[in-house]
Amino acid sequence: MVRLHVNVDHVATLRQARLGHDPDPIQWALAAERAGAHGITVHLRKDRRHIQDRDVGELRTRCGTLLNLECSLDSEMVALALKSNAQAICLVPERREEVTTEGGLDVALERERIARVLPEFAARGAVVSLFIDPEPRQLEAAARLGAPFVELHTGSYANAAGAGRERELLRLVAGAAHAKRLGLRVNAGHGLNLENTAAVARITGMEELNIGYSIVARSLFIGVEAAVREMLQCMEQRT
Ligand code: PXP
Repeated sequence: MVRLHVNVDHVATLRQARLGHDPDPIQWALAAERAGAHGITVHLRKDRRHIQDRDVGELRTRCGTLLNLECSLDSEMVALALKSNAQAICLVPERREEVTTEGGLDVALERERIARVLPEFAARGAVVSLFIDPEPRQLEAAARLGAPFVELHTGSYANAAGAGRERELLRLVAGAAHAKRLGLRVNAGHGLNLENTAAVARITGMEELNIGYSIVARSLFIGVEAAVREMLQCMEQRT
């Protein structure tokens, strides 16, 4: 079965709207785990717009599944990620002015910085994935660097409609197949929801999906546990 890692960033977005304590992303994450989430994902951004440093520490000690920490290649963020002892690390591009992570890492361009940090995370027992667009050039660069996992960016697929959506799905299918041929393990995420997730979960070789916004939004109407269970069921759809 494809694993579901639930991203709790936007629970923290709501909390930060009033700079208070509610809603508590830790409690929300624990409820997601009770409903069957296989891991909890957060993105500690340099501008700290949602997840705060203390959330990372608390999630690492209180989550019973595993913590997947998304971080940029910025030296301050890498140092914090190393210190966090998160079991999984996803290296992502980050631009201060973006609303959300736009596009994947340019692995060829960032080759030196990625090569420097991969062994540091491996030495701490963290499994690293590189968040990339499903492009052969990026996949080949990731394989050359010896990254264990890639996370395929599903944003273009999620934003496309009609024939464009089909084309984007085929790019993901081809990207996953190419990754497997190169010896890479494959995750995916971004913009996935109840309507577009099943097709991605069915891609051969897919191991894990990282889904946040749509589950957090849905939980406002039906509760955290029901929203996570609903997504898990969606990922099991065969047709
Ligand atoms: N994967 C990565 C690497 C991301 O940066 C994000 C967004 O933080 C997601 C998955 C989850 O995207 P969404 O919140 O749209 O489900």
